[in-house]
Parts: sequence; structure tokens; C-alpha cells
Amino acid sequence: MRARVFSGIQPSGQLHIGNYLGALKNWAEIQGRYESIFCIVDLHAITVYQSPAELSKKIRETAALFVAAGIDPEQSSIVVQSSISGHAELAWLLTCVAPLGWLQRMTQFKSKAEKQETIGDGILQYPVLMAADILLYQASIVPVGEDQSQHLEFTRDLAQRFNSLYGETFVMPATNLPAVGARIMGLDDPAQKMSKSETSAGHAIGLLDEPKAIQKKIARATTDSQSAVDPGSMGPGIANLFTIAQACDGSITKDRVAGMRYGDFKKLVAEAVIARLEPIQRRYREITDDPSHIDQLLEAGKERVLPITHDTVAKVKRAMGLFVR
Ligand code: AMP
Ligand code: TRP
Repeated sequence: MRARVFSGIQPSGQLHIGNYLGALKNWAEIQGRYESIFCIVDLHAITVYQSPAELSKKIRETAALFVAAGIDPEQSSIVVQSSISGHAELAWLLTCVAPLGWLQRMTQFKSKAEKQETIGDGILQYPVLMAADILLYQASIVPVGEDQSQHLEFTRDLAQRFNSLYGETFVMPATNLPAVGARIMGLDDPAQKMSKSETSAGHAIGLLDEPKAIQKKIARATTDSQSAVDPGSMGPGIANLFTIAQACDGSITKDRVAGMRYGDFKKLVAEAVIARLEPIQRRYREITDDPSHIDQLLEAGKERVLPITHDTVAKVKRAMGLFVR
């Protein structure tokens, strides 16, 4: 049996080059080697309020972007989390095994809890649902950006805890980070991760941004007081732009950019990003020409994976002594 890959992206906000370089690009590259399942995690998105009309649009847009970014729906299954009841069902079974202290120590929960006066229970449970996503498919490889490393450690800890309480049930999933681009920072603030929830205009490059907008955002990106690229000591802003350029175009090396004036360097970065995104944007327009195509593809993905989810849920229920026919 081929090893199984699972990963997911939330259908909230605009997908950006951090999502592409940290996740999607890697997914497209490894899908041929494994049995791959890529998920639109809408149940995670609703841990913060989403406008229902927007969300249902975003789910399909995200699926179309997966395909446009190179996920081949013949080779990989593209699925919507909420369409497969095993995700929520396994999440409850795992909730009963998850120590509250582990959840309260997660950095995502702590930073959200600090910012908000009231915080939804969904934010606390978020890592359990993510663990359920992965363990439901007995995935052994999970390609993500670096910000998900802690959630993956939690998943392994929880799987181990379950296995030691109820007997060997789950496969241990390994984190798979891309060699370049595992953590892309905001263009306006290179100390902050590029994020969908940050809406200021110069923060992120959207996967569907026009070339002109991309040029403008990169031209305005925060750098430092130097004027030319010194590969030996790049400030965080320049280092981030270099990572973006290198991840988009492998021929961009430190040697090649050494001594370039910031203005020229930024032009090179913008060209690399635009060239990378152009075919993705073209495919996106082709795919979305026929809206029923996406629904069909999501239905086919679901049918293909359902037996796996039924097997795992039955196995877990049996291990726990629950009622299984
Ligand atoms: P999210 O936008 O939180 O749904 O993230 C979906 C995927 O993109 C996950 O694998 C993240 O680790 C990855 N990702 C999100 N933001 C970044 C970033 N700034 N740099 C690299 N990867 C990212
Ligand atoms: N929490 C992930 C993120 O925000 C999304 C996600 C949900 C995920 N379930 C997953 C990623 C399972 C990998 C595997 O990026």
C-alpha cells in the first residue's frame, strides 16, 4: 500500500503566496509519489464567524485554486471537510482523550485568547479537529508550512495517547515542510507571518492578484536602511523577498542578487512571482468557466475517500468499546 498524504487549507480570506509556497506547491510536487488527499477545511474556518454566503463561495474557489496550483484531481482526492461526517465524528472521540492542559498550551489558542475577551470553544478544540482530519485517513505524511508544526506534534501526542489507552489504532503522521518557503513573512512587516486574516493592502500577495498589484506591493515592501543586497547579512525584509523569489524561481541564487540595488532586486522578485502565478491564474479562469465542474470533482473526491473514513471510525469505535454493528 502506498503511504498516504493528507493536508488542508481553510476556505477563509484570500489564499496568498505563503499558502502556495508553504503548502500547495509542495502538495503538487509530492502527489505522484503517494496516495494524496487534500481537504478544504471549512469546519476549521467556522471557528471564527464566517458570512454564510461568502463561505460557500470560498469553498469552491479554494477547490478551484487547488487544481489551478497543480493538484491533479485524477491523481489526488480533493475533498470538503464538512461533506464527510467522519471528521466531526472522530473529533468528538478524540476530544474525550485530549487533556485540556495540552489544548490550553497551544500557541494559536493562547494568542487568540489574549486578543479577545470572549473566545469560542471551537478555537480551543481546533487542534483536536485537525488531529481527527489526519488520523481519519491514517496519513503518514502531512505537508504544511512551519506554523503548523505544533499542531502536528499535538496530533502525534494525541495518537500515542489513544494507542496506549486503547491499543494500536493510529499511524503516526510525520510533518513535511518545504525546503524553501516554510514560513513567508508579511511584506509590510517581516516580523509577522503572512496571514489570511491580516487585511491591510500591502501585507500579502494574493494568488489571484493582478501583475500590477504584485509589482506595487513588492515595490512598497518594508526593507531596511541599506541600499544594495548583501547576501552575507540580509535584513528580515530583504531575506523574506529573497526566499519568495527563490521559491518561485530556483535560478535566483544569493550570488545572482549580490550587490543588486534594492529597486532592481524588487523588480526581479516581482517578475519571479508574476511568472509563477501567471499559469495558475490562467488555469483558475479556465476551471471556473464551468462552475458545475468543481462540484463534480468534490463529489468524486468524497466518494473515493469515504470507505477509508468508515473503516477508521469503525476501528476507533471498536477499540473504545462503542456500539458497532
Ligand atoms: P491556512 O491559511 O492557515 O489555512 O494555512 C494553510 C496552509 O498554508 C498550511 O499548511 C500553512 O502552514 C500554510 N501557510 C499559511 N501561511 C503561511 C506562511 N506565511 N508561510 C508558509 N506557509 C504558510
Ligand atoms: N490548521 C491548518 C491551517 O490553518 C489547516 C488544517 C486543518 C490542516 N486540518 C489539517 C493542515 C490537517 C494539515 C492537516 O493551516
